[in-house]
Amino acid sequence: MNPLVELAGAGYAYEDGPSVLAGVDFAIAEGRALVLLGRNGSGKTTLMRLLSGGLRPGSGSLRLDGTAVSYDRAGLTRLRTAVQLVVQDPDDQLFAASVEQDVSFGPMNLGLPAGEVRARVDSALAALDITALRDRPTHLLSYGQRKRAAIAGAVAMAPRVLILDEPTAGLDPDGQERLLDVLAGLRAAGTTVVMATHDVDLAVRWADEAAVLTPSGIRTGPAHALLSDPRLLSAAGLRQAWSPAVTSLLRAHALLDPLAPGPKTPEALAAWQ
Ligand SMILES: Nc1ncnc2c1ncn2[C@@H]1O[C@H](COP(=O)(O)OP(=O)(O)O)[C@@H](O)[C@H]1O
Ligand SMILES: [Mg+2]
Repeated sequence: MNPLVELAGAGYAYEDGPSVLAGVDFAIAEGRALVLLGRNGSGKTTLMRLLSGGLRPGSGSLRLDGTAVSYDRAGLTRLRTAVQLVVQDPDDQLFAASVEQDVSFGPMNLGLPAGEVRARVDSALAALDITALRDRPTHLLSYGQRKRAAIAGAVAMAPRVLILDEPTAGLDPDGQERLLDVLAGLRAAGTTVVMATHDVDLAVRWADEAAVLTPSGIRTGPAHALLSDPRLLSAAGLRQAWSPAVTSLLRAHALLDPLAPGPKTPEALAAWQ
């Protein structure tokens, strides 16, 4: 089966800049929770903009359902109805006067009938738990609320893949937990989710597949294998993951059955006794 979206041999350099990505093969399979990990400046945002059509690869290609994406109006519309990117800073995404106007902009632009737009907006606001904020001016929302409104705008496009650039940055612990709940709900409804972060512990908790950006290229595979590889994480300039370290210590002291999953968070460990 074709991956839903795929970059093959993709390279990118900003104007007058050095190469940021070279020879990148990156596939998003339907139904996955995929984390893209890398330190600041490693190219996460660039890669996400290539996947969502905001940037065009300098070399290589982007495919959707096995067909090369064309960068004309029709091709980009086809891509954007399948793939939606939520940028890191909600203030770069929100622009309309109220939450409802902002969230309805994308579906309206697709030329959908008014009833369908309304239904999409209702369900996106409900998914993000911001129905009560519908008529609020976006500039009066808290940071966490603006973040939710920005995600709702992407969700209202009913994408098959939702790509989130550092979605937990700037959120407090409670905000992070609420975001993970939202993502779980979207995944249960069939959306494939890709998240960029440098938070290895969040990645361990959330992802089933991982892609790690290192100076020598991108490594992809099952999240549990990649994220418990100290050499890979240190080559990527990331910290070690907490859960695999604690799990192997518990196993070494016969406190955990070799086949049982270890605790994913300090809270889970504390509740364990
Ligand atoms: N608009 C831009 N113009 C020139 N260089 C850029 C631009 N955006 C990012 N870069 C450079 O590309 C590299 C990768 O950046 P980015 O994709 O934002 O990484 P990350 O999201 O992992 O922090 C960095 O060296 C950054 O300085
Ligand atoms: Mg970035």
